[in-house]
Amino acid sequence: MIWLRRRNIVVALLSLLIIWVNTQWMNPSLPVPKPGVPGINTVYADSAMSSRSAGSAACLSCHRAICDSLSLTAHYLSSSPASAASIKGSFRAGRNHIVYNEHMEVVLEKKGKKFLQSAWFNGSVYESEAFDIVIGSGRKGQSYLYWDSNRLFQLPVSYYTPADSWCNSPGYPTNLIYFNKQVPGECMECHATSARVLSLDNGATLFDKNSIVYGIDCERCHGPGAAHLAWHTAHPGEKEGRDIIHWRQLGRQQRLDACALCHSGFRKEILPSFSFRVGDTLAQFSTPNYSPDSTATLDVHGNQYGLLTTSKCFSSSSMDCSSCHNVHVDEFNRAGLFSRRCMNCHDQPGQAAQMGAPARQSGCTFAPVKELKLENNCIDCHMPALPSQKILLQLSGGATPLHDMIRTHHIGIYPDISAKYISAAKAAGPRSGR
Ligand code: HEC
Ligand code: HEC
Ligand code: HEC
Ligand code: HEC
Ligand code: HEC
Ligand code: HEC
Ligand code: HEC
Repeated sequence: MIWLRRRNIVVALLSLLIIWVNTQWMNPSLPVPKPGVPGINTVYADSAMSSRSAGSAACLSCHRAICDSLSLTAHYLSSSPASAASIKGSFRAGRNHIVYNEHMEVVLEKKGKKFLQSAWFNGSVYESEAFDIVIGSGRKGQSYLYWDSNRLFQLPVSYYTPADSWCNSPGYPTNLIYFNKQVPGECMECHATSARVLSLDNGATLFDKNSIVYGIDCERCHGPGAAHLAWHTAHPGEKEGRDIIHWRQLGRQQRLDACALCHSGFRKEILPSFSFRVGDTLAQFSTPNYSPDSTATLDVHGNQYGLLTTSKCFSSSSMDCSSCHNVHVDEFNRAGLFSRRCMNCHDQPGQAAQMGAPARQSGCTFAPVKELKLENNCIDCHMPALPSQKILLQLSGGATPLHDMIRTHHIGIYPDISAKYISAAKAAGPRSGR
């Protein structure tokens, strides 16, 4: 089988080149290596939060409501070990393969306790790897990673929720199947709570397999909690939270930076993954991979921060992400709830002033339509879901690729989309609740 492997490597080298150009993958400049474990030059010990961490199970006894609701959010479910429960795609015959062309397909199968992706070329298997880690809550989709000793690689097939179907992994070509895309540290930095990141001479990222804390958990946003836990256990009467990150005491840019770490697209790293802490200045750790002047061409994917900063709402107030989002709760798809948050500024002068907005905000100037209750849904007209130009998904069978739809954070006026929304509302009739 060695010859088959070798051919795969040649193919992979070629396609890595393609993917490099395609994704403009960042080129992290790592610090000067220090001697350490043989073969490993740098150990980012703090990336695992080590002994200062208590683990989120320890927060339950005093913060039950937040723990319960967080466990249902996309953040909390954003990564997990692979299992029948965490993998959303189907392994049933007929639905368990993706065909690239008449020579090539990937078959998704369960063998014993393992779930596998097996690449077939002209009737024989040439590579087969296990699903080890699931990335993505499955709100929109999932990608899968496998371990090769301490290195993580991305598998060729992903899952796309709107079509309930396996698909070619985003950014992968459709005429090659490869397993050799190594996952950079940032992938885990954005999708997990902590991981011990190690680095080799050539800058390749290695992980300590046993150190990964899956999902985006309390301590990702509030910092390690062991000292907080110890203090409050010893002082049950204490009403003020100690030794923990208080978001409400941070400045606006600090609060924005702490979300922008993961919500301003892929960034160019100055310091290694997992070194940023909530409260730090993000620009000292990494820089955005886009020019702020070219916001017209910004992709909607994953860059909520960049887009929000181009909105009038943002520049004329002291708004931050928490003006609209309560990250402890799964609020996906609740247009009415979000619209009330718009009204906090656009309808209620008192609250608007608290958020740094001018005392009187005009409401919607759009001519009233009798079929429509504007206040039920401000967002489909002013923050519409738009097709991502970067994330295109190829489903099995060579159908036309689909664009991932993402809610833009450029809050603005979109006359054509508004007109379409109105005709849909008229067609649905006055009782549709729109
Ligand atoms: C023994 C009880 C106890 C445990 C366990 C505990 N906390 Fe707290 N925590 C408190 C008390 C008391 C406060 C202050 C009152 C409040 O804000 O709820 C607090 C406040 C907080 C705050 C609010 C800070 C602010 O902005 O006001 C955060 C964040 C927090 N805890 C996070 C955590 C995390 C994360 C864990 C688990 C690692 C944890 N707590 C475990 C008792 C506890
Ligand atoms: C460590 C990286 C990270 C940080 C920090 C982070 N996010 Fe996220 N966020 C993600 C990832 C990854 C997803 C996608 C999760 C998924 O579906 O798998 C996500 C999803 C979301 C979603 C969509 C999920 C939904 O329920 O609609 C919202 C909204 C969101 N984040 C807001 C925020 C806000 C606001 C902050 C700052 C308070 C923040 N995030 C901080 C990584 C992060
Ligand atoms: C994605 C980031 C994120 C995660 C994960 C997260 N928090 Fe928070 N937390 C925040 C933000 C942002 C605020 C401040 C919200 C505001 O300004 O109103 C906050 C505020 C708090 C507060 C004080 C205000 C309140 O709502 O009571 C407590 C207590 C708290 N968090 C506990 C927790 C616990 C416990 C967990 C884990 C179960 C957790 N948080 C997970 C971002 C996060
Ligand atoms: C800079 C932070 C960042 C990095 C790096 C990153 N992601 Fe994400 N990812 C996000 C955010 C934020 C979202 C959700 C919001 C969005 O799409 O705008 C997301 C969404 C996803 C989703 C869809 C989840 C769902 O169901 O909503 C998948 C799958 C995913 N990422 C896989 C990966 C993989 C695999 C890697 C590494 C090769 C990676 N991501 C690297 C931030 C990141
Ligand atoms: C923190 C307060 C605040 C919140 C929350 C807020 N806005 Fe605004 N918005 C403003 C301010 C201030 C302006 C600028 C008004 C002006 O210049 O006259 C504005 C302007 C606008 C404009 C005009 C944009 C343009 O380019 O002309 C629209 C449309 C708008 N907001 C819609 C919304 C929607 C929809 C939401 C909810 C998703 C929302 N706003 C939430 C404060 C806010
Ligand atoms: C003016 C209100 C507003 C502000 C401010 C805001 N958002 Fe959102 N955000 C929304 C709405 C509305 C949605 C759509 C929710 C839905 O469809 O369920 C959304 C959706 C999202 C999503 C999911 C996008 C998708 O389509 O998958 C992410 C991620 C997100 N927001 C992150 C952020 C971050 C990070 C910030 C701060 C930089 C932020 N938001 C600030 C209103 C806001
Ligand atoms: C059917 C689509 C639609 C809905 C629903 C809608 N708007 Fe608008 N809105 C528009 C359009 C189109 C304009 C531009 C109208 C014009 O040309 O004056 C506008 C204008 C605005 C403006 C700009 C006013 C100015 O001074 O320029 C604000 C603010 C605004 N809307 C807020 C909201 C809020 C808040 C909601 C929810 C309560 C909402 N809109 C619901 C389509 C809509």
